[in-house]
Amino acid sequence: MDKIFIQGGVPLHGTVESSGAKNAALPLLAASILADGPVVYHRIPHLLDITTMMTLIAWQGAEVTYDDQHCLHIDSRKANKPQAPYDLVKTMRASSLVLGPLVARFGHARVSLPGGCAIGARPIDLHLRGLEAMGASVSMEHGDVVVDAGGRLHGAKIDFSQVTVTGTENLMMAATLAKGTTVLENAAREPEVVNLADTLRQLGADIEGDGTSRIVIYGVERIHGGEVHVIADRIETATYLAAGLITGGDVTVSHTDPRLLAAFLEKITEAGAIVDCTVDSIRCRVNGRLRACDIKTMPHPGFPTDLQAQFMALMCTAEGNSVIAETIFENRFMHVQELLRMGAGITLDGHFASIHGIPQLSGAPVMATDLRASASLVLAGLAAKGETILSRVYHIDRGYERIEEKLGSLGARIERRNETGNSRGAMIYG
Ligand code: UD1
Repeated sequence: MDKIFIQGGVPLHGTVESSGAKNAALPLLAASILADGPVVYHRIPHLLDITTMMTLIAWQGAEVTYDDQHCLHIDSRKANKPQAPYDLVKTMRASSLVLGPLVARFGHARVSLPGGCAIGARPIDLHLRGLEAMGASVSMEHGDVVVDAGGRLHGAKIDFSQVTVTGTENLMMAATLAKGTTVLENAAREPEVVNLADTLRQLGADIEGDGTSRIVIYGVERIHGGEVHVIADRIETATYLAAGLITGGDVTVSHTDPRLLAAFLEKITEAGAIVDCTVDSIRCRVNGRLRACDIKTMPHPGFPTDLQAQFMALMCTAEGNSVIAETIFENRFMHVQELLRMGAGITLDGHFASIHGIPQLSGAPVMATDLRASASLVLAGLAAKGETILSRVYHIDRGYERIEEKLGSLGARIERRNETGNSRGAMIYG
């Protein structure tokens, strides 16, 4: 298994390009199941989770081809297996995104219960209640969710008791081919939901209200193929900006969109970062240490839970005491134990973490526990004195494209090695 070795304490400088957003690309890929023509995707990131989704859709019978330019072609017309087996879904919760499209197209589906990051219970009950409201029956058989609509789904009014991103996306896709109108209340407003709605419209769907908490989908008989684009990865963008800040450097992320990151940029500005934005780039730097400030994770447009761990790494070396409240997921503080091993001053109390900033962390062997937690450990390692060795890096490969190469281009001393000690991949000490 690969490990990432980091020699910390080097300020990062330069410009790095944002990749396409994993969390936007995944539902877009699932949407191909609905289309009765080929869909061409641009800006698909090379990531483990994307490979998993491609493999799943190909397993269902679709033709899937990926070129080296982040361009992907999917023709789902020959798909004939409305299923998602355990072996393909166990590593990725987002595989449940195929459920809505499969039921909409085939009238029934059998999908194994998803795995993915171990951050809390993460049920999909709201997805299933929504499909029931649209006329499907739902049962559990041998660990699989079996959904049967006995034909075409029908439109329904669905009021989510809790904001769910993939739940909103799943039901938006299901409703696209349903008979009649579906109204999603308390829907997620994340930019990735808007990217999906834009894509579906481009393919012939009739959707309005995305970006607000009330989305209306007027079901259509069919949607066609087309050419679609994935938005910039706001979480990756913020992670590289945080890498610049935590090392006292000066980093610009290009090909991104500052509008997607308002809550994060507001908080780092409050913490003392100097932020300069153009229409598609963000530059961040800081004079001296950041100042402590508090955050509370919330659905969009609030502070994203997917940046909580990275923000905590920043607060570990900020001046003063801060409090982080995690309101979206239980058990999303698994990085804390690892940060403590690097000398951080953190105490946990339920959904709250109190952080006492110290001038410098110290490098240590640490273990990645989930995708964004592993990003926080890389950030901590970049700032720490000495060597940090991160194991279980497959977590980070689920969501960060060529992370050691991108950080290396900014001057980070970071290297990936496999178990036998050989270094692999592109270059490293920059
Ligand atoms: C998506 C993102 C993930 C992000 C999360 C919150 C993708 C592929 N993943 O995950 O990176 O951290 O949004 O922004 O886009 N819940 C239920 N029942 C359900 C569905 C959700 O109780 O049926 C709860 C969850 O346990 C959680 C909360 O709702 O506490 C939000 O989860 P949700 O928005 O669904 O997260 P995901 O869509 O899985």
